[in-house]
Amino acid sequence: MTAKTQKDYALQLERLAQIVDLEKYPIHDLEHPVTKELVARCREQLDDIGCSVIADFVRPEAQERMRLEARRLLPCIFRSEQEHNPYMTKKDDRFSSDHPNHYLQRRTAGFINTDIIPADSDMLAMYDNDIMTRFVGECLGIWPIYTWADPLARCPYGVLEDGDYFPWHFDGNEFTVSVSVEQPAEGGIFEYAPNIRTKEDENIDAVKRVLNGDKKGVYELEWKPGYLQLFKGRYALHRVQKVKGPGAWITALPTYMTDPDTVNRPEHSKQFYGRALPIHFEREANRPDNLLD
Ligand SMILES: [Fe+2]
Repeated sequence: MTAKTQKDYALQLERLAQIVDLEKYPIHDLEHPVTKELVARCREQLDDIGCSVIADFVRPEAQERMRLEARRLLPCIFRSEQEHNPYMTKKDDRFSSDHPNHYLQRRTAGFINTDIIPADSDMLAMYDNDIMTRFVGECLGIWPIYTWADPLARCPYGVLEDGDYFPWHFDGNEFTVSVSVEQPAEGGIFEYAPNIRTKEDENIDAVKRVLNGDKKGVYELEWKPGYLQLFKGRYALHRVQKVKGPGAWITALPTYMTDPDTVNRPEHSKQFYGRALPIHFEREANRPDNLLD
């Protein structure tokens, strides 16, 4: 290690220690028995049910700073509304009318975009921290991973307020990381049906049962401010129940990628984050493929 990298590392470690209790979770030391056990537990749960939670990951005082920051920025939120099916695909009349493709639900939600979050934010300090990135990659069993290049979507706060709902869906991306910042008085519970489909089998009948309200095989996540969740939502049908205030469902969404350069497509960025920036158009013109998503 050069003197410069040693100094960088010491600064990152010092900043991270203000946010994460490194005595309880020594994530800076991957050889530490506590960390090894934690990583093993995360990997096992991710393999088993695609979901793992680390309770009290963020220190209470840092939690409160994140909550106040999100609250301060709430007037600048970009809210969007959309009807979608669980696959986030277009309605297709080749499917029968009772197929989940035709099951549309209204999503209302908002983002506090990353570019308006102050540079001294605890949330961004945790995200733009190589020690944290390395730890997340270790838990996921995926390396290398990178923090994202998208200036709006890289690490926003996702917000659901009174009456908002994030309906049942499958994720297109391989994994997500989230940190709870605030929970509403009622609702806002994350529900998921792990392994309801596989690469080979959509298991349409089981998906229909869950959409029709059957709770068999559906888990409720224990989710409190300061908790960190690792989730593989490609094969788990999941939703956030309707939120009832006072209080909001506020979740930090630190996004990690296996490809550091790709950003959202301009249309996607406008729809979910309210605008597109030059980088979205530039990188769109240089995309390596012409796939639809
Ligand atoms: Fe999702």
